Amino acid sequence: MKSVNGRRTVMPSDRIGNHPEDAEIRFFTGTWELYPAEELAAAAVVELDLGCGVGSYTAELAKRYPERKILAADVMVGRLRKLVKRCRRMGIGNMTILRTEARHLVAFMLPDESVDRLHLLCPDPWPKGRHSGHRLLTSDFVSQLHRVLKKDGIFHFSSDDEPYYTAVRGVLASSGLFVEAPEAIADLAGIRSDFEQRWNDEGKPVHHIACRRIPRLAHTIGH
Ligand SMILES: C[S@@+](CC[C@H](N)C(=O)[O-])C[C@H]1O[C@@H](n2cnc3c(N)ncnc32)[C@H](O)[C@@H]1O
Repeated sequence: MKSVNGRRTVMPSDRIGNHPEDAEIRFFTGTWELYPAEELAAAAVVELDLGCGVGSYTAELAKRYPERKILAADVMVGRLRKLVKRCRRMGIGNMTILRTEARHLVAFMLPDESVDRLHLLCPDPWPKGRHSGHRLLTSDFVSQLHRVLKKDGIFHFSSDDEPYYTAVRGVLASSGLFVEAPEAIADLAGIRSDFEQRWNDEGKPVHHIACRRIPRLAHTIGH
């Protein structure tokens, strides 16, 4: 994106496919493709960083667990291109970078029970009341998370925004689909995402919650 006579213009080199990093990003936006189930099944452990941004956290995760498959997803292609460069610099070979919309990925594209641990770190909190409908984490979304996580899979959420964090804890608790499991992210205590670092530098704490997926209760009719 470049400013020409005060107007923001997409330069040809910015167009998808014209950038040197684009060969290493899978572009799913605007399609109804399903993620290849056999590819995920081939990895013993799959982790997904949803809304990864420029992906410092994702890259550290991939470096720490080279035997795991790490999925990094975001809508902003510029951020993903930076992540491609970071992976090259760090010699990371176990990350798949996806340009896709988070709701779409979780609701339609990923197979059932395909992810071991899903991270949603510092998502946009939409703090103004009239914008809260834009928040990603709703009870519907929690239900879809339950679908894509494997048995005993982990959902990891963080936010600097106290009201959003409290609301998310409430939605998870009332769903009956997850129980809190702080030990499930103890291995990641030393890693901070780009936004977590940014908020900490400004003196703001970032709160984390980790929950374990539990089976849905079977509902019987007539009892
Ligand atoms: C505040 S940043 C956090 C980035 C990173 N997780 C971190 O903690 O540093 C939110 C990220 O989510 C991405 N994002 C926002 N809405 C999204 C959506 N609907 N689908 C996919 N990515 C989204 C943005 O492009 C941005 O990179």
